[in-house]
Amino acid sequence: MKLVLLLVVLGTISAEVQDLSRKMFTFPQSSNTAHVKLNPAKLDYNAVTVCHRSVTDLKRDHAIFSSSTPSHDNGIVTYWHNGNQELQPHIRDARVEYGGWDYKLNRWHSICTTWDSENGLVQIWVNGIPSIRKFIISGAITQTSKIVLGQDQDTFGGGFDVNQSFVGMITDVHMWDYTLSSCDIQNYMSEMTFPPGNVLNWKTLDFEIVGNVLIEDRPACYPASIFLG
Ligand SMILES: *[C@@H]1O[C@H](CO)[C@@H](O)[C@H](O)[C@H]1NC(C)=O
Repeated sequence: MKLVLLLVVLGTISAEVQDLSRKMFTFPQSSNTAHVKLNPAKLDYNAVTVCHRSVTDLKRDHAIFSSSTPSHDNGIVTYWHNGNQELQPHIRDARVEYGGWDYKLNRWHSICTTWDSENGLVQIWVNGIPSIRKFIISGAITQTSKIVLGQDQDTFGGGFDVNQSFVGMITDVHMWDYTLSSCDIQNYMSEMTFPPGNVLNWKTLDFEIVGNVLIEDRPACYPASIFLG
């Protein structure tokens, strides 16, 4: 009983491994506290692919995916810069800007980011459309990572800014320690068969909810294409 009370006081609802197929995290309000911690199966990466589907009506900056290390707050980040209308992947505190996307409010967006530490090239895919490939930074990620949904980490595991928090729903988060082929990315985008993430796998997700974040069923009766951007 005391333990339950303590968990309620700390705002911690769950810490567990779950199959979240057909489910989503709902982030119902702005805050500098509510988030989901994701525990990765691996901690050093020579290459990375991160994929997620999300929907929001925020008309301000927000982070969709935030992974930090002790020396790089923006270890691996998917960030929407609203002023510039750009998706900005960050790797080890380096950043590139990608504009020209139809990042509509109230529509689901499937976004994948790939990065190869050998040649330092990053690429994003938005609703099936690949960006150009740009140099961001080379050199592997070798430190322990803290991965968060719902907030942007400005310190290792914290430093949340209410004005960069995510409000909306996120589903189908996967992360790999290699660059996924274009065919596998297209299969992810169109909800076909793809190799599940070997770092983060939505079907065996090891996570912990802090504050007001809900696990809900994805609506069963949206138009079939709603999750396809
Ligand atoms: C968040 O943005 C609002 C509106 O622009 C501003 O008034 C407020 O000071 C900001 N809060 C923080 C913590 O930056």
